[in-house]
Amino acid sequence: MYDVVVIGSGPAGYVSAIRASQLGLKTACIEKELNNEEKPLLGGTCLNVGCIPSKALLDSSHRYHDAKENLKSHGIGISKVDLDIAEMMDRKNSIVKKLTDGISGLFIGNKVQSISGEGKVISEGKVEVTYANKSTEIIETKHIIIATGSSPIEIGSAKFDKANIIDSTGALELNKVPKTLGVIGAGVIGLELGSVWARLGSKVTVIEAMDDFLPMTDKDISKETFKEFINQGLDIKLGCKLVASKKTKSGVEITYENSEGSVDMNFDKLVVAVGRSPNSYNVFEENSGINIDAKGFINVDDHCQTELNNVWAIGDVVRGPMLAHKGSEEGIVVAERIAGKHAEMNYDLVPSVIYTHPEIAWVGKNEKELTEEGIDYKIGKFPFAASGRALAVDQSTGFVKLISDAKTDTILGVHVFGPSAAEIVQQALISMEFGASSEDLGLTIFSHPTVSEALHEAALSVSNQAIHIGNRKR
Ligand code: FAD
Ligand code: NAI
Repeated sequence: MYDVVVIGSGPAGYVSAIRASQLGLKTACIEKELNNEEKPLLGGTCLNVGCIPSKALLDSSHRYHDAKENLKSHGIGISKVDLDIAEMMDRKNSIVKKLTDGISGLFIGNKVQSISGEGKVISEGKVEVTYANKSTEIIETKHIIIATGSSPIEIGSAKFDKANIIDSTGALELNKVPKTLGVIGAGVIGLELGSVWARLGSKVTVIEAMDDFLPMTDKDISKETFKEFINQGLDIKLGCKLVASKKTKSGVEITYENSEGSVDMNFDKLVVAVGRSPNSYNVFEENSGINIDAKGFINVDDHCQTELNNVWAIGDVVRGPMLAHKGSEEGIVVAERIAGKHAEMNYDLVPSVIYTHPEIAWVGKNEKELTEEGIDYKIGKFPFAASGRALAVDQSTGFVKLISDAKTDTILGVHVFGPSAAEIVQQALISMEFGASSEDLGLTIFSHPTVSEALHEAALSVSNQAIHIGNRKR
């Protein structure tokens, strides 16, 4: 009999299992994917086919592009820059392996029992495991945590064929640079993986159904980033809905519709990245008392408790942003609540990052949200073009925008497009967790020269005290 059985070993599940075990709970984690040695492949989407491999390729492709295009003004001449995709993929794969093997080590070190098989909640306290040889076993446990994650959405107008029409996983594994690459969806995956292949030499066209670009970001970010991606050579077609696709000799022909009619385009490869859907099918017995919403997310309360006693659900399989750190934090909160601790998750301060170059990152509210909520606010903004460090490192595109409450000056949102945007937002987020005002950040000493000084200046700029902006009027 276990205290806790976790189903799924992604960043939500494995973190939760480790925390539960740290707290003295007898814990097992069930994972259905197998690695080459027929052991459970731990780490979920994030480590195997998500966050980590995509960031490895973003880094490699950035270095290649930089070496080819951006070193001349530094006085560095390189006569020929070669591209070895196989080597690039090997590097990515070895990082993934190191990290996934690392979780096996963490499970052993933390006494988490790793179980290889497919888990299904039968009823309160009972999980059925189906092993690779199809045999089954019922495991008994006081608590169950469902952390089964999500999968790419497949659309009827472009069904995945693992050859020419591929999902994000396929886009992380191409063995040569396609001359032309179509990407359906100008979301996070479309932009990150579209950037990877564009930097490596593909002519990338991104087709997006919505008229607005990155509608979840602040309007200034959306405007500036769109211009920058077009500048970088991504052909982004907004307001264009994919309606059909067919295989051709050399790749794929697609048809999209926009306000002017219907257009055909041909690509060597097509990546479909139109969102992900929760893996809630077949993870619990029908009539068990667990329910899903219209989009397939498992219903949970504010503390990730499902409608069935002592059964919890965390990560991509429940409401909220599909982000690794959101799932991990939910995993910790749930493990602690099971152990009788008082733990809460602050959903207002979950940061978002798009790892393009420059990065895009934000936390808290944007202008549109505050206006809709009727909250008066003040804005401070600072461009990286006025940052000494940003200029020195050749990354002066973008800005930091800080929004604070008009009455209390409490920081309500920070939106960054530029160098180290993710790290800058993280600094702002820490201050926001402690209820900081723009004045508090303004009174904080920042090292010089750092790109973070742009956050300092944006905070000062809320009260017109920024030192390095000429025009005080906003
Ligand atoms: P998952 O990571 O999906 O893990 C679920 C696990 O459960 C899987 O291993 C699966 O095999 C297993 N499983 C499913 N059903 C069963 C079952 N019945 N029995 C046993 N095991 C089961 N997020 C970020 O925060 N930052 C990023 O930079 C980022 N980059 C991304 C890049 C890409 C290309 C993609 C696709 C995603 C990215 N994400 C990123 C999103 C991130 O990967 C997910 O939010 C995160 O992995 C969700 O964690 P999870 O544990 O809920 O689910
Ligand atoms: P997404 O939701 O970010 O973007 C999908 C886009 O596709 C939307 O803009 C949508 O309007 C568009 N779309 C939908 N149907 C379409 C159609 N028929 N034709 C044209 N466009 C269409 O989803 P994405 O990029 O697949 O990513 C899935 C999730 O993975 C994200 O929600 C994100 O949370 C996570 N992720 C996070 C990353 C990060 O944190 N850096 C990186 C990659 C993924």
